[in-house]
Amino acid sequence: MPEQRSRATVAAPGVLVILGASGDLTKRLLMPALYNLACDGLLPPEFTVIGMARRPLDTPAFREQQRQDIQRFHTRREFDAGPWEWLESRLHYTAGEFGDPDAYRRLRETVLEVGGGTASAGNTLLYLAISPEFFETVNGLLDAAGFTQLPGSRKIIVEKPFGKDLDSAVALNRSLLAHWREDEIYRIDHYLGKETVQNLLAFRMANGMFAPLWNANHIDHIQISATETVGVETRGEYYDKTGVVRDMIQNHLMQMLAYVCMEPPASLEPTVVRDEKSRLLHAVRLLGREQAVRDCVRGQYGPGTNADGTTAVGYRQEPNVDPHSNNATYAALKLHLDNDRWAGMPVYLRSGKSLWKRGTEIVVQFKPQPGVDGEPNLLIFHIQPFQGVEIRMQAKRPGPTFHLQRAGMRFDYAETFEATRGTGYEVLLYSALNGDPTLFSRTDFVEASWQIVQPILDAWKESRAADFPNYPAGTWGPLAAHALLARDGRRWNECIQRDVLMRSEFFAKAPSVLLNNLALACQPLAVDAGTTIVEQGERKSDLYVVCRGELEAIGATGDRLGLLRAGECFGEMALLDDRPRNATVRAMSPCDLLVLTATDFRRIVEDFPEAEAEFRRIAARRR
Ligand code: BG6
Repeated sequence: MPEQRSRATVAAPGVLVILGASGDLTKRLLMPALYNLACDGLLPPEFTVIGMARRPLDTPAFREQQRQDIQRFHTRREFDAGPWEWLESRLHYTAGEFGDPDAYRRLRETVLEVGGGTASAGNTLLYLAISPEFFETVNGLLDAAGFTQLPGSRKIIVEKPFGKDLDSAVALNRSLLAHWREDEIYRIDHYLGKETVQNLLAFRMANGMFAPLWNANHIDHIQISATETVGVETRGEYYDKTGVVRDMIQNHLMQMLAYVCMEPPASLEPTVVRDEKSRLLHAVRLLGREQAVRDCVRGQYGPGTNADGTTAVGYRQEPNVDPHSNNATYAALKLHLDNDRWAGMPVYLRSGKSLWKRGTEIVVQFKPQPGVDGEPNLLIFHIQPFQGVEIRMQAKRPGPTFHLQRAGMRFDYAETFEATRGTGYEVLLYSALNGDPTLFSRTDFVEASWQIVQPILDAWKESRAADFPNYPAGTWGPLAAHALLARDGRRWNECIQRDVLMRSEFFAKAPSVLLNNLALACQPLAVDAGTTIVEQGERKSDLYVVCRGELEAIGATGDRLGLLRAGECFGEMALLDDRPRNATVRAMSPCDLLVLTATDFRRIVEDFPEAEAEFRRIAARRR
């Protein structure tokens, strides 16, 4: 275990220049993050922020604007005026067009004027909060105005998107490296600002009990999912040129993959950590065209329903999106890592917009214990919105017989730490001030991650997706993503939250222990229109909860007995009365279901007799 770092101390003095300071990023993230650092006493006395943007403001007007914005965007429980006043008095502004060389000369004068003679003068941070199309021009003009020669240390902080494909990312790197040294370039991936992502490394390095198991001998596979309920909202223009692979997978999911699968670094030295991360990405097997088509599923959302029941438009109907767009808003991929540790073990990644739930989770599924039935052990890193780590295991059910049951152990950040909800940018700004590049992406990492996704982008570019849109907004994504794992005899492990269950009449009033049990036991099943889910006469007795869509129940004589819609259940009667299914149930539209296996259902009704009574009551009423 490498040496531990001490508690955070005040950051190094510095001048932070924000280019594009009148934009969204500054007011929503950068300023609230600086304010949080100020509240926590982590900004040095010698600290200055200089904003530059096109908007013709002066320093008092900029301060006034920021003062109003911070009221809306700060993340603290209560606004504390003292630290804000302290920070506000350090804000400066200079107006300028990004293509105007004079603007940079003026900016340099301001930097020297406000920082000159103080300790902050030796540490200049240039934050490019601007569209990437200006990167090249701005870097050239910064260089021409002497910023690359400023005394002391200089850092250029770059926001994503970092290229739109491998070639453009390489070109962008070359253009940056023409002006700055590698150790001066700080590329932001905001996922690295998340505590739960940073914890991946801490968890692996500090908890020796997992280290011997961390390989393909013991782990069956790993799933990394980042699902969102939001669609593209107002970002159609950007997103339609970008898509999910560039927007989420090339950067955020690759970072998580690296942290979970890299070799444990010998120390926490930035170079050592970043070397291991890059090495891991270089071990990802590059997909050929055929493999890309076979192992990568793409999706695009069509019109649907949001979780709150409101209507959701399809991607092609979103503002500033081409009505015939072939852009993917969902992707699921299977990758292999060709190194000693992971040989033969797949990693599945998926991400998408307009899905049934928001959640970023990493599920490490261990190999089953020989001779033991039941679900294998799962280690789940909950990145967001729930933040924690969970172990799912088997436990003996209380009672005179020897029966196993799924049980869980959870570490919940909110219960363990007293931390204020931040923006995630605090640690990034703090690290940049201190010249610690650990949480920033290096050239080799960025290029390696583009190398991984480029064959997928190429394969998809070659052919239009004939079936787009292929998942309704608010659902569990395209069916093909489930088939991708089913082909390997696996399934996505969904982390179901209670609210999904509580939408069903059956579980609406269930006590929390029952809901916890159900949330562990239920698994989603997405089916297409026309799929028969249960057959009349069969003796299988799983229970199904309808989350979306419409199904018909057909009796022995072929008559329709009724329709089943969201919130309803079916299959419980065969189990409660121990008899064959009395109806065939067929999906009439694409449907999302939750499935509770007969064994789990039986166990749950045994443990919660009042739930059984409630199921019977609801079932009888439906009959
Ligand atoms: C951004 C993407 O990088 O990450 C967005 O451009 C996405 O499309 C966002 O919504 C997700 O971030 P988070 O922190 O909400 O998971």
